[in-house]
Amino acid sequence: MKNKPIKKIGVLTSGGDCPGLNAVIRGVVRAAAERDWEVIGFADGYEGMITPVRYRKLDPNGVDSIMPMGGTILGTTNRGRFVAKVGAGNKATIPKAILSEARETFEGLGLDALVCIGGDGSLSTALQLQKAGIPVVGVPKTIDNDLNATAMTFGFDSAVAVVVDALDRLHTTARSHKRLMVVEVMGRHAGWIALHGGLGGGADVVLLPEIPFQMDKLVQLIKNRTQDGFGSTMIVVAEGAKECGKELSTKKAKLRAKGEVRLGGIGERLAEQLEMLTGQEARSVALGHLQRGGTPSALDRILATRFGVGAVRLIEQRKFGQMVSYLQYHVGGVPIAKAVGTLRTVDANSETVAAARSVGISFGDR
Ligand code: F6P
Repeated sequence: MKNKPIKKIGVLTSGGDCPGLNAVIRGVVRAAAERDWEVIGFADGYEGMITPVRYRKLDPNGVDSIMPMGGTILGTTNRGRFVAKVGAGNKATIPKAILSEARETFEGLGLDALVCIGGDGSLSTALQLQKAGIPVVGVPKTIDNDLNATAMTFGFDSAVAVVVDALDRLHTTARSHKRLMVVEVMGRHAGWIALHGGLGGGADVVLLPEIPFQMDKLVQLIKNRTQDGFGSTMIVVAEGAKECGKELSTKKAKLRAKGEVRLGGIGERLAEQLEMLTGQEARSVALGHLQRGGTPSALDRILATRFGVGAVRLIEQRKFGQMVSYLQYHVGGVPIAKAVGTLRTVDANSETVAAARSVGISFGDR
């Protein structure tokens, strides 16, 4: 039987925002227009697909200037009725009534496919929609860079650039005051932002979720540095980093999904402890959502544009249930299920970690 031609597609952005989302939307709209397809964008992620349904028509002129804009013109949420993963990745089943309502909206609008731009939670939702009868393609998005089956996600490079810029600024004040400077960065349970930000920003210590650190080793290292004449020490700590034998540092949040854990606070605690244990003055800075906001880097704009066009190509080839991925310098497609099963974390024995050790970065483990 011949396939019904594609005429109209939907697009949505879901989960935490990330630099490059608008560049993906622009890529989808322009590549779709080239094929004479119509595009509508749902507001606030999957939530826009159910009561009150909210969407708008997207045309090439309307997305002309959105490439350098941070955030997403469509709005997004990492809460609500479509949450498919909570905490460190526990799966949640979306109620059938919600999935059916989304499918009715999709069919009522005469859509032929849905582009879901999101991280592992949002792509898990996409899979549940696919099972409920909506043809989806995914676009991997996260500053954390922790998705499997793609060598890189857009947003990561921009987040790392923020960390590097912050370290450049913090080095000068830390050196002037001969202080310990602790910089907490995002990344959830993966240390990519900390590792790359620390490498690019010339950190002395990088603490990762993948390499539990020992406080006594850290204290000794700082004392040795002081003896060797280094006045200051720059410590980058991932929000998901852990001291050996201790719990993750979490924040209390009133509004949170069942089982959801909000990471954060390790930087401040670490600075207090190190000041006490070394006798050297310490300060801490949590970069927080600065890493998610603002204009995307050139690399992220390019990757995001290629991902948007790649998503349209997947629809054209009717590769539903797949997401675009960047592997060996090529944008292709992989099953979404392959990307959302497990998180991609830093390999403690990787060449990058070894290179960091070779330039004198300590991971607080030796
Ligand atoms: O997954 C992206 C991310 O920015 C994490 O690095 C961070 O832990 C989390 O989202 C913060 O989410 P929220 O927007 O709920 O504060």
